[in-house]
Amino acid sequence: MTDYRPMTGLPETAGYKAGDCLVLFGELFGRGYANGLVEEARRIGMTVIGTTVGRRDSDGMLRPLTTDELNEAEALLGGRIVNIPLEAGFDMEPMAGRPSIADQLKKVRPDDWDKISFSDESIESVRAAGAARFRTNTGQVANELARTIPQGASVLFSHVMAGGFPRARIFMLLLNRVFKGTGDKYLSSELFWESGIGRLCAASFDEVTADTFRYLIEETADLRERISGSGGKVRYTAYGYHGTGVLVGGEYRWQSYTPYLPGYAKMRLETIAAEAFEHGIPATVFNCPEIQTNSSALFLGVEISLYPLLTAIRREAGDGVVSPLRERCQGMLTEGKSLEMLLERADSYLTSPVMSEILDYGTWPQHSTREQAELMLASSAELIGMHADQKQLVCAELSRVVFLATGRLMLHESWNPRASTLWLNHDIIARLLADELGAGII
Ligand SMILES: NC(=O)c1ccc[n+]([C@@H]2O[C@H](COP(=O)([O-])OP(=O)(O)OC[C@H]3O[C@@H](n4cnc5c(N)ncnc54)[C@H](O)[C@@H]3O)[C@@H](O)[C@H]2O)c1
Repeated sequence: MTDYRPMTGLPETAGYKAGDCLVLFGELFGRGYANGLVEEARRIGMTVIGTTVGRRDSDGMLRPLTTDELNEAEALLGGRIVNIPLEAGFDMEPMAGRPSIADQLKKVRPDDWDKISFSDESIESVRAAGAARFRTNTGQVANELARTIPQGASVLFSHVMAGGFPRARIFMLLLNRVFKGTGDKYLSSELFWESGIGRLCAASFDEVTADTFRYLIEETADLRERISGSGGKVRYTAYGYHGTGVLVGGEYRWQSYTPYLPGYAKMRLETIAAEAFEHGIPATVFNCPEIQTNSSALFLGVEISLYPLLTAIRREAGDGVVSPLRERCQGMLTEGKSLEMLLERADSYLTSPVMSEILDYGTWPQHSTREQAELMLASSAELIGMHADQKQLVCAELSRVVFLATGRLMLHESWNPRASTLWLNHDIIARLLADELGAGII
């Protein structure tokens, strides 16, 4: 288990210069974390190069983007995309003479979910096939980059990808019960995780969320040598999650969303970075706060720990900095509700004995309990209910602040990283906003 190591001081300004490149390893979505890195790279004149997960048509074949899709994705990124599909995982890989795991799961009746199991050998064989395809495509992306990255330029590779829930309807039904279920609909995350389908999920998370970082580092070995040989530097970052230090009961305290099942894969990601670091390759996992993105939408309640960021910014950066943000957030609440009421409600969840009883860094990630799931979901609904418009949420505003701030912290720290895993907690984000380096984020 990685030692808990929060970033305690702001990074020095990185040595990246105009013409250096940021390469996103994972596709960019509108409100995703990677937007922060892209903004910062562009602000300092770096060239942003994107990649794509690719698309699958109804025939199930993985393909690059069409011209229209590519134009749309490049417009969103504001840069060129290497159009080679980088979908990771194995749920759609054909299984020795049988349909893919996703297709086999389509035939399972929801009530039979706990009877499903795939043998270790069959999972291993599709996993190897998926990894081989992904490595080949990553190698082709590296060759393409070798042709386009200018001599002497430094390159920052940013691993963005995470996921691995097999694509079958039965999963959506089960996950809705694990992450959003109360009463009779509640399904214990432990029961799910210990089942055959849970073990399948674990292997898939490891492959998509963690092992792709290793493949990236290995498949860019030649390119790394070439860039270093021409005087440039090569750096790797990845987005991690392993709980966050936020203000709980007036003090910064580590806490976590529960049940974060991809947590095992995120710890594996930390190990991959540590191994690279030991071999002299600057690879850093930045464990980032809970925010609202396409990927976190499933984890209802994950956003509760984001509200106290408002108090952290006031404490670290002062009223002058936080006021415009507070005004915008207050403007989103329904009549009769104040930010103080919102913050008190979030704090009452975070300080509840139910949470302190189950949370423990050493044995993370914890499984859900019915009491905890019901408390979290009720708190989340009550907080969202304080808003005037369910589409204009305080947490969306705070998520933007967080992804922009973490983008700056990661990009600058990556130049000369202090460790292979660092936590970007609410205090360092708030302190960045008080600093010149954080100018213009709020
Ligand atoms: N949202 C949060 O609260 C939070 C907190 C800490 C860390 N993170 C991490 O930040 C990173 C970006 O996530 P985000 O929340 O911004 O969401 P996002 O949806 O914008 O990004 C998810 C990325 O994963 C890629 N991806 C998903 N499945 C894939 C597959 N099978 N093969 C290849 N790529 C795949 C997507 O293409 C996309 O690039 C992830 O590593 C995530 O775990 C998120």
